[in-house]
Amino acid sequence: MKSPGILITIIFFTGLMWASLAAAEPSGPGDFTSGQFSKSGICSNCHGSSFGEWDGSMHSNANSDFFYHAMLQQYGIAAQEQGLSPEFCSRCHTPIGVVSAEIPPLDGSGLSEVSKEGVQCDFCHVIATSEGIGNAPYVLEPGDVKWGRNMSGAKSPSHEIKTNEFYNESAYCGTCHNIYHPVNNLTLAATYTEWEEGPYAKEGVTCQACHMTPGIVEFEENPGKAASSGPEREHVYTHYFVGGNAFVTEVMGEGRHEKKAVEYLQRAASLEVKAPDSAEPKENVEVEVKITNTGAGHKIPTGVTEEREMWLELIVEDAKGKELYHSGALDEKGEIDPEATIYQTVFADSRGNPTVKVWEAETVLSDNRIGPKESVVEKHSFLMPENASSPISTRAVLHYRSASQEHIDELFGNGTYNVPVIDMATYPEKEEESSTPGFGTIGALIALSMGSVYRRLKD
Ligand code: HEC
Ligand code: HEC
Ligand code: HEC
Ligand code: HEC
Ligand code: HEC
Repeated sequence: MKSPGILITIIFFTGLMWASLAAAEPSGPGDFTSGQFSKSGICSNCHGSSFGEWDGSMHSNANSDFFYHAMLQQYGIAAQEQGLSPEFCSRCHTPIGVVSAEIPPLDGSGLSEVSKEGVQCDFCHVIATSEGIGNAPYVLEPGDVKWGRNMSGAKSPSHEIKTNEFYNESAYCGTCHNIYHPVNNLTLAATYTEWEEGPYAKEGVTCQACHMTPGIVEFEENPGKAASSGPEREHVYTHYFVGGNAFVTEVMGEGRHEKKAVEYLQRAASLEVKAPDSAEPKENVEVEVKITNTGAGHKIPTGVTEEREMWLELIVEDAKGKELYHSGALDEKGEIDPEATIYQTVFADSRGNPTVKVWEAETVLSDNRIGPKESVVEKHSFLMPENASSPISTRAVLHYRSASQEHIDELFGNGTYNVPVIDMATYPEKEEESSTPGFGTIGALIALSMGSVYRRLKD
């Protein structure tokens, strides 16, 4: 008599489990209304520090980013012509707008205030799980329950708390930090995969360790309060979410985040140079520069690497300061010396032509970026001129910018925005420069001459 009851019970619970598994589908357009999400200002009442850190980040600007909008507009036209999903980009950049069916239209005219906040508090803290990595298959449960890592004994007067190890894992970030083409599945960005296949995943150093603590290249404790009415804690995760974007942050007046982006870039790489001190006239002088990704948990650059540019500038001078060799300089239009190697990804469209319109991408033409803890060696050589004198000196600078000046000029008109060039690493190192007489002045001269290039662009 007992066993059929148990059987029915088992079937019942299996059915329940199955139902709840089947229900865990990625949240889709119209599943919710934007009124089910709280504006970040509400959380700020008790979580002022987290709010202050997040406010001005690229997450807070994910929807309002003018560079994104220029590309989104182009995507919108293509999507209409080719029948692509209109909300594809917005799933990551304006997630509440998508799940509350305020998008399309893509111009943002249908967006509520909370949707305009981009990747914000109450979106991130109601992610119950994700149905995989990339293209944003998040499963949302908006409401009274806020999800977080397992902070011991956390209690809030304003909301319930549910803990989930997922918040401590890189896979949480991987939800959006891998991008695949919506039709042909080509990998368009793979920050998560680069991390997963690299040494940091094995060491257990997550995205959060570097991007949500003051450590930049490793976990570092950040003691304080997670909420104004809560207890002092040994560690509270920060919410700056800084990467390498010193361009859009600068234009949008987000000075704190811009400054931090420069710090991140300057912790990411190092340079070693092998160059002779002297050379005979007509001798072939060889210079080797080793670039190492010392601090980023993924390739450098990562993310939208069809836009990002990293390259080396190399200058060799003789005893009198006469330039013997110079590679990687910017021309008066702000374009990089065509002889220089630019570290980035180049996609090709169906005709095999390079394109930065990722929705047109069908293949990868080239990808020479540098993996975590990996190095590349650049070899340069030139003939020592007859009238040059030894000793010779070599300087190298690893530069980064968020996009080519050409593409930004094409999108916004010549001279509208200067894309700042950030020095990630220099040889000799900055400290050495000041102790070696002469180099300081040379550095200042470069800064001056580059400054004049920027000024000319601005005119
Ligand atoms: C009235 C004050 C108050 C408001 C408003 C508030 N919280 Fe909290 N929250 C708290 C307190 C208190 C804690 C517990 C802090 C502790 O124990 O260190 C907390 C904890 C949390 C945690 C940590 C959970 C964990 O264990 O990791 C998250 C996440 C969180 N809140 C998100 C939010 C979000 C998102 C909002 C806005 C929608 C919000 N909170 C609004 C008071 C508040
Ligand atoms: C991109 C998603 C994201 C956004 C946006 C975000 N958070 Fe978080 N937050 C997290 C993650 C992930 C953690 C836990 C980090 C970990 O465990 O490694 C966290 C942790 C917290 C905590 C607990 C502190 C701790 O040490 O775990 C609080 C409180 C919190 N967030 C509140 C906020 C508030 C308030 C906002 C908006 C101002 C916000 N969060 C925006 C992802 C986010
Ligand atoms: C809902 C999707 C989503 C999730 C989840 C998410 N991000 Fe992001 N993230 C974005 C988008 C979109 C941008 C870019 C916004 C822009 O540049 O317009 C971004 C930007 C960033 C940047 C700034 C990059 C730069 O160039 O400066 C960092 C750093 C970052 N995210 C880290 C994280 C980390 C760490 C996590 C996990 C705790 C995470 N993100 C989770 C969507 C997401
Ligand atoms: C060991 C520390 C470390 C880890 C782990 C790490 N990052 Fe980074 N990340 C950095 C540094 C340093 C930079 C700045 C250099 C750069 O832009 O590549 C950076 C840059 C970025 C950028 C901006 C890239 C660009 O050039 O536009 C994004 C986006 C990002 N990280 C996301 C992530 C995500 C997502 C993860 C986890 C899958 C992660 N990071 C893991 C250190 C780390
Ligand atoms: C799966 C999530 C996802 C999707 C889908 C997505 N993006 Fe992004 N987007 C990101 C992340 C994450 C970053 C930041 C990476 C970095 O900093 O390099 C980003 C950055 C950008 C940037 C650089 C912004 C800046 O400030 O430098 C542009 C432009 C952009 N996306 C346009 C688009 C367009 C157009 C689409 C649709 C065709 C799209 N994105 C679809 C996640 C996504």
